[in-house]
Amino acid sequence: MPSDSVFDTISRLRIVPVVAIDSAEAALPLADALLAGGLPVVEITFRTAAAAEAIEKISSKRPEILVGAGTVLTTENLEAARDCGAKFGVAPGLNPEIVACANENGLPFVPGVATASDIECALSLGCTMLKFFPSEALGGVAMINALAAPYGHTGVRFMPTGGINAGNLESYLAVEAVAAVGGTWIAKQNDMAAGKWREISNRCRAAVDMVGSG
Ligand code: 3PG
Repeated sequence: MPSDSVFDTISRLRIVPVVAIDSAEAALPLADALLAGGLPVVEITFRTAAAAEAIEKISSKRPEILVGAGTVLTTENLEAARDCGAKFGVAPGLNPEIVACANENGLPFVPGVATASDIECALSLGCTMLKFFPSEALGGVAMINALAAPYGHTGVRFMPTGGINAGNLESYLAVEAVAAVGGTWIAKQNDMAAGKWREISNRCRAAVDMVGSG
């Protein structure tokens, strides 16, 4: 899938649930809870051993969901994400080797940035959708506004994550340079372990209703 179409979908949906999944058995119930909540997108992070299999299940059995791989720290993660059918990759930081590997594999990639120098490095590597991480700890909305000012004309857009939840997502989405927000608050690891799919669905629906996306 071309980057434009992946990033257009993310920008339209405006919220990307970030998930650390402990068991691949939870992948389809999770996917169904997100679909019921009106949010057909998910980032499954390579923080757990179940990530690759979970991505594969969602990609093959719930193709209506845009599934991406998060915490892509190595070229092995990147290649596993591609092989499992991930439609995009995300990393907490900016590693030129991983960006090059994503480009070679045609996988739309969102590297993490925290400073003006990171943004310039990302732009020089051809990345224009950037994860701003860890957002709240870095100064949140005020920091994004300040950072976006000199780079607005470059077409750069941000996907902040880190400390974002139902209480502050609207303030982020009011920032023009913010394409979407990400976070773990919708599908928490302990709720998934306990099979609390309705709670996950409800949090998803509440967030979607708040921003009028979906
Ligand atoms: C991420 O990788 O995007 C973050 O860990 C999400 O941060 P959060 O847990 O504060 O939502």
